[in-house]
Amino acid sequence: MTVNEKPVVHIIGMGSMGAIIAMNLMEHTQCEIVPLFRNIAKCERFVKDANSSITINRIYSEYEGDNATISHKIERYYAPEIYPTEEPIRNLIVATKTYQTQNAIKPYLPYINSETNLILVQNGLGVLEQIKDGIFAPETNQERPQLFQGVIAHGAFQLSEFTFNHACDADFKIARLPWSHLDMVQPCELVTNDSSNNELMHLFTDSTFAKLFHVSHLTYQEMLIGQLVKFLGNSCINSVTATVDALNGELLDCCRETFTSIVEESLSILKTVYKPLFDYEKEYNDKNSYPSLNISRTFELGPLVDGIVYLCCVQGGKNSTSMRQDTLNLRDTEIDYINGFVVKMADKFEMGPNSSKVNKTIMELVNLRSGLNRARAREDKS
Ligand SMILES: NC(=O)c1ccc[n+]([C@@H]2O[C@H](COP(=O)([O-])OP(=O)(O)OC[C@H]3O[C@@H](n4cnc5c(N)ncnc54)[C@H](OP(=O)(O)O)[C@@H]3O)[C@@H](O)[C@H]2O)c1
Repeated sequence: MTVNEKPVVHIIGMGSMGAIIAMNLMEHTQCEIVPLFRNIAKCERFVKDANSSITINRIYSEYEGDNATISHKIERYYAPEIYPTEEPIRNLIVATKTYQTQNAIKPYLPYINSETNLILVQNGLGVLEQIKDGIFAPETNQERPQLFQGVIAHGAFQLSEFTFNHACDADFKIARLPWSHLDMVQPCELVTNDSSNNELMHLFTDSTFAKLFHVSHLTYQEMLIGQLVKFLGNSCINSVTATVDALNGELLDCCRETFTSIVEESLSILKTVYKPLFDYEKEYNDKNSYPSLNISRTFELGPLVDGIVYLCCVQGGKNSTSMRQDTLNLRDTEIDYINGFVVKMADKFEMGPNSSKVNKTIMELVNLRSGLNRARAREDKS
C-alpha cells in the first residue's frame, strides 16, 4: 500500500469520539476528512444548522484560553444513498457505539476491499467476533479490510448535533487487529512496517498529531493488555453506576467487594479467551523481536481492583459514566459488549453455567434499570 500526501479518511460515527479524532487530524495533519452520516436528512442539517462544520471545545484544564475551540468546514460528506459509486474507501474510522457497527458499515461494503484500512474506535469487546461472523464472514465473499483497533481513553460528550466538548485528554492506543486469534502475537517489525507503509497508521503516527493526541502505536498483544484493563474497569464502573444511578465518586467507599467479584470472574474467562496473551510471558519475553511484557503483574487481582477504584472513583469521581447516561436518557446501552461479552464467551468456551453468574446478574440488573427507566418515562407521559 502506498502512502499518499493527502490521505482521505472516511468516518462512520461522527459522534463524540469521531469528532475529536477528526478535528485533531484536520488541525495537525494534511488529510481530508469525509463523514459518512446516517441519512440525507442529517447531511441537510449539517449544512443548514452547522454551515458544514464540526466544532470541538477543549474543556480540559490545559485549554482555558482562546484556542480552546477547533472548528473545521468539511468539503465532502455523504450518506449511504448519495455515496459516489466510483470511490473506494481507503481509510475508514468506525466510531459508532458497538451495537451500531454492523448496520453502519453495511451500506459501504461495496467500497471496502482488501486495501482498505478500517479502525474500530470503541469500548468493549466482541465487535471483531461479530463482524468476522457477520458482514465479513467467508461465505459473504466480501473482501476483508486491513483491520485496526483504537483503545481511547480521551473523554468527550455532545453539546449539540455537530458540536462536542472534549473533556478529558488522555491516551489513544492503536494496533493492527488479527482476523484470527491464532495470530494474536505480533513481532515489533509489524508496527515499524505499518507506521512507514500503511497510510492510516502513517497518518496516526504523524509526529505532531501523535504527540498532541497521545497516540501509542503498539503490537496487538501490547494494546490488548490496555484494552483488557480498560474493559475490566468499564465492567465495574459502567454497569454498577448505571444500576444504582450514581456518580462514580459516590461509590468510592462501598464498591470494592462488588468490583472484586466482577473482575475475578471476568479474568478467569478472559484468560481462556485470550490464552496466547496470558501464556505470552513464558513463550515470548526472551525472544528478540517481541516486546517484553509483564502480564501476570498487570492482572494481579488486588492491585488491579485498587487501580480501577482509584482511576474511576477518585480521578474520575465527578464523572457520570456513558452507561449511566444511556439508561437515564432511555438509550440502548453497550452492556452486551462489556459484561455481556464475558457471559457470551463463557458459553462459547463451554465453561459451565456458574462460570459467568456474577456478570450475568450484573447484565440483567443494567437491563432492569433501563427497563424501569423506560417504564417510568412512559407512565409520566400518560
Ligand atoms: N464518549 C466518550 O467519552 C468515550 C470514551 C471512550 C470510549 N468511548 C466509546 O467510543 C464509542 C463511540 O462513543 P461516542 O461517545 O462517540 O458515541 P456517540 O456520541 O453516540 O457517537 C456515535 C455516532 O455514531 C453515529 N451512527 C450510529 N449509527 C450510524 C449509522 N448507521 N450511520 C452513520 N452514523 C451512525 C451516530 O449518529 P446519529 O447521531 O445519527 O445517531 C453518532 O454520531 C463507544 O463504543 C464508546 O463506548 C466513548
